[in-house]
Amino acid sequence: MPVISFENVSKVYPLPAGDVVALDGVDLAIEQGEFVLIMGPSGSGKSTLLNIMGSLDVPTSGEVTIAEKRIGGMDDDDLTLLRRDHIGFVFQQFNLIPLLSIVENVEYPLILKGRQNGTRERAEEVLKAVGIEKTHFTHKPGEISGGQQQRVAIARALVNDPDFLLCDEPTGNLDSKTGTAIMTLLDKMNREEGKTVVMVTHDPRMTEYADRTIRLVDGRVAE
Ligand SMILES: Nc1ncnc2c1ncn2[C@@H]1O[C@H](COP(=O)(O)OP(=O)(O)O)[C@@H](O)[C@H]1O
Ligand SMILES: [Mg+2]
Repeated sequence: MPVISFENVSKVYPLPAGDVVALDGVDLAIEQGEFVLIMGPSGSGKSTLLNIMGSLDVPTSGEVTIAEKRIGGMDDDDLTLLRRDHIGFVFQQFNLIPLLSIVENVEYPLILKGRQNGTRERAEEVLKAVGIEKTHFTHKPGEISGGQQQRVAIARALVNDPDFLLCDEPTGNLDSKTGTAIMTLLDKMNREEGKTVVMVTHDPRMTEYADRTIRLVDGRVAE
């Protein structure tokens, strides 16, 4: 049973100048434990695809199954619970909360989930696993480097022990050496922790880390 499957998924944005077809009849399946890249030109639908995989967005037509649940017919509350319990997100812009410390940023999803005990310990454990030094735990995101901020974002995505990680150009704001270090970390989470990883990237060097690459052209999967 795949962790994510799409059957004939389309996404159309109706605009005054005419419809924009962002995804056009996409079929795919992501299996537990895979490391999959999504590549394609700008505007080919990569972010739309990833957002639908993460139930941040819904398709115009077609069937999407995430963690064995069909998302068609789910309301916003159901989708929020699905995201909270199964999915970790990592974005190009890191999206950390600037006023919270590093450790508080990672603790936050646990608190949202209503966990009462051990949240600080769990946040510290995951921060260590992604290679953040203890002396940085009380810093604010603005006080650490971009590469470190992305490690913290990965820790935050992992803290609730999701089934899979969805990463939209996670190395896009990093220099190439730091980007490679982040790729190595995601690869380690995939191989050692068994996390399923789906990652949008422009960087062809990343293909060496992945099990396979899905290429999008004009909203369709290219063979
Ligand atoms: N909210 C939106 N409203 C209208 N058009 C959109 C919206 N989001 C994306 N699009 C359009 O859908 C297409 C695919 O966009 P996107 O998924 O962001 O591509 P990529 O991530 O590959 O660059 C583009 O033509 C884009 O302009
Ligand atoms: Mg994009």
